[in-house]
Amino acid sequence: MSDLLARSTAAVRAWLGPRRPVAAIVLGSGLGQVAASLTRPTRLGYRELPGFPEPGVEGHVGELLAGDLGGREVLCQRGRVHGYEGHAPASIALPTRIFAALGIRVLIVTNAAGGIRQTLRPGGLMLIADHLNVSFRNALIGGVLSGETRFPDMCDPWDAELRAAARQEALEAGLTLDEGVYAGVIGPSYETPAEIRMLERLGADAVGMSTVPEVLVGRARGIRCLGFSVITNRAAGLSAGRLTHEEVIAAAGQAGQALARVLTGVVSRLSA
Ligand code: HPA
Repeated sequence: MSDLLARSTAAVRAWLGPRRPVAAIVLGSGLGQVAASLTRPTRLGYRELPGFPEPGVEGHVGELLAGDLGGREVLCQRGRVHGYEGHAPASIALPTRIFAALGIRVLIVTNAAGGIRQTLRPGGLMLIADHLNVSFRNALIGGVLSGETRFPDMCDPWDAELRAAARQEALEAGLTLDEGVYAGVIGPSYETPAEIRMLERLGADAVGMSTVPEVLVGRARGIRCLGFSVITNRAAGLSAGRLTHEEVIAAAGQAGQALARVLTGVVSRLSA
């Protein structure tokens, strides 16, 4: 892992040249359109990066984008892999370790999620206040990598100051931004109605199949994390219909504009 990390980091650094991104943004299912908000983007396909896992799911292109958002240089990870594709949590989180090695101090993670709390409607945005790791896997299992500690603290995985900035940006833009607990499951099957009732009792407001690995590694590296779930559907058993990936991708696309607006505002507040 450390060899792949060093080689991939060197490749990204060479591609970035003099650019110094202040934040990395992980774009989830159907949220690639946020990338359209970048000005002067340059691209690097994951294929160019040793060990960088390539997404195999519709809605996930595999490329890094560097560009300007809200007057700040950012790096976007467009497309990610998931545990349900058979990837180890440490591979899922390799990009996060590369961002840390590049000196990036802010990680913004986005995902598509099913709404569990009654008030979370498809097309809405939820700011992640906290999470439940119900994948029962952990990207930090294994040897302790340089720059990390064995037992990282997880008291405040989602940065309070960045969340306040996101709330303020949403308010100024007249956008509704709910806030809640994200439950990260392994997938790939959607949940049963009984599992959704269980997650609700455990304190989850939304459920999805990503995000937790990146945040565990981000926090282990001292990176400030901010996360948004785009609510693409009501979770299993909470609406009459069945769940399909196509519906999830379509709903994510609708919320992309609002997400791009909030992200741009938050990034513009970061010091250059
Ligand atoms: N469950 C799990 N993951 C998801 C869902 C869901 O309902 N919607 C989008 N991603």
